[in-house]
Amino acid sequence: MHKTPGAFFKPLAIGAPAPLRELPTRLERMIHFVPPHIEKMRAKVPDLIAKVDVVLGNLEDAIPVDSKIDARRGFIQMAQENDFGETGLWTRVNCLNSPWFLDDLMEIVPAAGDKLDVVMLPKVEGPWDIHYLDQLLAQLEVKAGRTRPILIHAILETAEGVKNVEAIAAASPRMHGMSLGPADLAASRGMKTTRVGGGHPDYGVLSDALNGQQRTAFQQDLWHYTVAKMVDACLSHGLKPFYGPFGDFSDPEACESQFRNAFLMGCLGAWSLHPTQIEIAKRVFSPEPGEVAFAQKILDAMPDGTGAVMIDGKMQDDATWKQAKIIVDLAKLVAEKDSSLAEVYRL
Ligand code: GLV
Ligand code: MG
Repeated sequence: MHKTPGAFFKPLAIGAPAPLRELPTRLERMIHFVPPHIEKMRAKVPDLIAKVDVVLGNLEDAIPVDSKIDARRGFIQMAQENDFGETGLWTRVNCLNSPWFLDDLMEIVPAAGDKLDVVMLPKVEGPWDIHYLDQLLAQLEVKAGRTRPILIHAILETAEGVKNVEAIAAASPRMHGMSLGPADLAASRGMKTTRVGGGHPDYGVLSDALNGQQRTAFQQDLWHYTVAKMVDACLSHGLKPFYGPFGDFSDPEACESQFRNAFLMGCLGAWSLHPTQIEIAKRVFSPEPGEVAFAQKILDAMPDGTGAVMIDGKMQDDATWKQAKIIVDLAKLVAEKDSSLAEVYRL
């Protein structure tokens, strides 16, 4: 059952801000995770605001049980003490069946005022999880006197969630997007890997045995199917897909390669769990200057976006014009924020 289109866009509480019809255009190349119960980490937030696109206060996994309340309070303090400007402020709350979820929302929404942009909801299983948070946020927005809606970002990290990914994407106009959660998802599916994202040396295809030649194993991407499914669900509903975490901080090359696959497949960002991953995400999720220059050439050669032209021996038409526009629009968004890249892109 679906709501009628009119009802879909009605606020879920009297006096709550109207749901958005379109997502705001924001650069979100990396969602940087901060453990808010640690004072030393909170002290770095002003610095981080200048460096990252999104600062996220993490309340869920990786926060010890006896620090859950401190993390929540630390996040509120972070929100109140800092001016985030164009940088996003998100929180990852505890999951719906935990003893902390309700108070996370009840305390944070009124205390954070209009600063909180997005609530990341872990372990989403189906649209019912989104409906519950949607209604609760509307009620809390009224209490807080919010003028703009808080958005919901779902983590795709259970087998049931992946099965229901399209219904999750369609559940509410409050949906911002989704991230792959490869650690919980691996556990939920019974996958035999202890890694957080990335490939696995045993997941591959072996070349044929031909005339006694040496056989080669080609490693495959364990996450290809899920990322592809998530990208289609998100983009068909106007939402933003994200890679999620990469856990091996000692392997920046593998991190970059996973992030790049996700970028090429349509993702707009990834999580940064370590300061070194901020630069990796910035590099990967800002389009490559050569690609931007070529895309700009296509747009210049086809001012109204129709017809067919040849550029450097490659056929261009209405469809490649659209591909080029994706790259140039993203480059423009990056250039607005990053003056050094603006120069490189010559935009
Ligand atoms: C992230 O939350 C994950 O489980 O990978
Ligand atoms: Mg998880």
